[in-house]
Amino acid sequence: MNPAQTAITTPQPQPIFLKNYLPPAFLVQQVHLNFLLDSTQTRVISRLELERNPASTQANLPLELDGQNLKIINLQLNGQCLTEADYQLTEQQLILPQVPDSFVLEIEVEIDPLNNTALEGLYQSSGNFCTQCEAEGFRRITFYPDRPDILSKFTTRIEADKSRFPVLLSNGNLIAQGDLDNGKHFAEWQDPFPKPAYLFALVAGNLHAVKDSFTTCSGRQVALELWVEEQNLHKCEHALRSLKAAMQWDEENYGREYDLDIYMIVAVDDFNMGAMENKGLNVFNSACVLAEPKSETDAAFNRVESVVAHEYFHNWSGNRVTCRDWFQLSLKEGFTVLRDQQFSADMNSAAVERIQQVSMLRTAQFAEDAGPTAHPVRPESYIEINNFYTLTIYEKGAEVVRMLSELLGKETFRKGADLYFARFDGQAVTVDDFVACMAEVSGLDLSQFMLWYSQAGTPEVAASGVYNPTEKTYTLTLKQRTPATPGQPVKQPLLIPIKMGLVGAAGVNIPMEVNGEFWSTERVVQLKEAEQSFTFHHLEAEPVPSLLRGFSAPVKLSFDYSREQLAFLMTNDSDGFNRWDAGQRLALLAIQSLVAQQQAGETLELDPALTSAYEKLLKAPVSDPAILAEMLLLPSEAYLAEQYEQVDIDAIHQASEFARTSLAKALYAEFLRLYQDHHSSADWSPEASAVAARRLKNVCLTWLVATEKPEALQLAEQQFKQANNMTDQLAALTCLAHAKDASVGKEALEAFVKQWSQDALVMDSWFSVQASRPYPDALDKVKTLQAHSAFSMKNPNKVRALISAFVNQNRVNFHAKDASGYQFLADKVIELNQLNPQIASRLVIPLTRFKRMDKVRQNLMKIELERIKQEKLSADLFEVIEKALQ
Ligand code: ARG
Ligand code: ZN
Repeated sequence: MNPAQTAITTPQPQPIFLKNYLPPAFLVQQVHLNFLLDSTQTRVISRLELERNPASTQANLPLELDGQNLKIINLQLNGQCLTEADYQLTEQQLILPQVPDSFVLEIEVEIDPLNNTALEGLYQSSGNFCTQCEAEGFRRITFYPDRPDILSKFTTRIEADKSRFPVLLSNGNLIAQGDLDNGKHFAEWQDPFPKPAYLFALVAGNLHAVKDSFTTCSGRQVALELWVEEQNLHKCEHALRSLKAAMQWDEENYGREYDLDIYMIVAVDDFNMGAMENKGLNVFNSACVLAEPKSETDAAFNRVESVVAHEYFHNWSGNRVTCRDWFQLSLKEGFTVLRDQQFSADMNSAAVERIQQVSMLRTAQFAEDAGPTAHPVRPESYIEINNFYTLTIYEKGAEVVRMLSELLGKETFRKGADLYFARFDGQAVTVDDFVACMAEVSGLDLSQFMLWYSQAGTPEVAASGVYNPTEKTYTLTLKQRTPATPGQPVKQPLLIPIKMGLVGAAGVNIPMEVNGEFWSTERVVQLKEAEQSFTFHHLEAEPVPSLLRGFSAPVKLSFDYSREQLAFLMTNDSDGFNRWDAGQRLALLAIQSLVAQQQAGETLELDPALTSAYEKLLKAPVSDPAILAEMLLLPSEAYLAEQYEQVDIDAIHQASEFARTSLAKALYAEFLRLYQDHHSSADWSPEASAVAARRLKNVCLTWLVATEKPEALQLAEQQFKQANNMTDQLAALTCLAHAKDASVGKEALEAFVKQWSQDALVMDSWFSVQASRPYPDALDKVKTLQAHSAFSMKNPNKVRALISAFVNQNRVNFHAKDASGYQFLADKVIELNQLNPQIASRLVIPLTRFKRMDKVRQNLMKIELERIKQEKLSADLFEVIEKALQ
């Protein structure tokens, strides 16, 4: 009974539609679970108190319980054993046609956690038991109406061998525990809050806790426990600090107080996603909770802080108020991502946080919106819900809620959130319910706004301006269109909030006057029509418009800026985000003209405007090193590719490399001075200023080694050897391992693996550095590394570190014209289809994005997709491959 094998369903899995939603026929008042844990033969005995749902729209429906890969041992209805004549069993369900209106059902099943490589339901990680039930994993534990609109009170009894599994955890409060015969023991947990099955969790193993406590705003003491394997006990402090900060932040900013007396987090090594917000018992991918300066980078610290906060915030936005059905997934995810972004902005540099979010959104999410799996923030149908835990649901979903907060203003938005939590506490609701609260408190008509939830694709806003010197007017015209996406050929105009200002020659915002209306110096313009114009009066000279400040809407905005205007905005825009974006636009222009030169076979020549803009940045006094570091980064090749209808992978790579080396050579002395100014041998500090200095210094180091000068490589070697923290060590290692001459990094890579071979998380970085090496030797290296003892196809972090890193962070070699990258990926996807369908279906995505490639590559990519299609596919892969080849 291999769960992964039976995950492979019928050849044509069927889609489920939002429009077919029906309230459940039965409700579960109480559920008692009893686990007799065993690696290959775990018994799960459940006792469900069921009754017909008074709100059900149809009478006398049969009872349908979901269940997958379950071996039935015993079934009893009100104490009477059921025989096979009493029920129907399908691959997916247990159906009882004749049941009373109110009854008790007892179900005993057997499952096999050890061979559960899909990592859904109950499985083992490093020998410990853990669960992952969102979205539909609970049905792999027992038969149950596994849908988020059925909320029930759970008690859980766990029985296991005491020496191997000394720690037994589940949701809520511990109500009993004790020893049993045969070296076994038990624990019993009770969760007082009704919850859907996707929030159930169980953990059993040899774990150790770091404990702390938090006093809530009403003075209640909450016990905080972070459970880890013994060797990770020194990596817990940062997560606990982040958790306490998040608890306090949610009280202060959303009026949300924690509701149980205990909050537990468990770190596991084998996990499909980042973390899971199970009530009172979060389960985390160890990469998102463990952090210690010697072994984790500042970026990892930042990730831990935001994921810990994210899962904590779900206690209200997700658990107390949950989703009616999985089409509403962004109701909890989009809102919770916005909340974690707001938290991170308050804890760190707000401008840098925003820059990093937007960079990710407009490369990765925009690419999703332009590809074959594009879907709205609220999808209308799905085959496998696990395929919809996407950047669109999470990140674009967060942008949509952010726009609501911009449109309502901070205070009114808070009132709307308060109303939402108060009105729907303990319920499973929809996106409409959320937006209705926002409309109610603001009096705004948000009907057009709802299109953000139903229309897929990234809207394009084309802006243009005309200055009339005799009238002293400036007319700004905004046009919007959203390109067609699969299944949505025609799009309606959206309500797009565009925060803007007009910057005058002196570099200050000019108060705006539009047709007798006074707008002050900054304004959120509401673009509602396909085309709208605004005429500004009393302007002595042509202003420079600063549009989409703070990235006020998830759109592609174009404006025909001159190089001079961009250089001007880079230094003068009062909006930090737009100063950065002006620099990105200037760099984009320069690299795009290099791409054109490359394609025309001309000698490459870098736009001197970019060099002088960089020189100016480097020579100015450093007021904010964190922002300066961001400003010194060129747009990524992925972002460059997003600018083209037809992507020329090689030309983009050549052009970027040329820009990089030219700037590095021209400004070597400045980069070196900045490096030295911010390099310190002082003790590691978590302070924002120290983080910023490390970031700036390491950005400079990357520029220096781009010249391949021996003295630059020596500097990297020195930093590698002397580093007292992973941020500096890994940055230096990357510089060395990515040098053109592969032998340069050899020694450092060996030293690194020797130092860190016992630390699984650090080994992930060691794999990634080699997989992302931007030279054609990378693929052979990746293939060799698969045999390394630290690598395993069964561990998602390792697959991401080695295989995803090659596919996603080494574009030019993944897209090699000999198809070697495509063939390699297809082989891995086929292998993972058997082991872990969720990971397989994520991994294949880059192969489905062939539309914008040249004809040769398009064909090579399709050949590999067709090859995958010949396999007996899981529903996850079936859906993605089907959409790609449509
Ligand atoms: N709700 C979790 C989070 O937002 C994600 C869990 C998704 N898991 C999955 N298998 N699709 O952090
Ligand atoms: Zn979430």
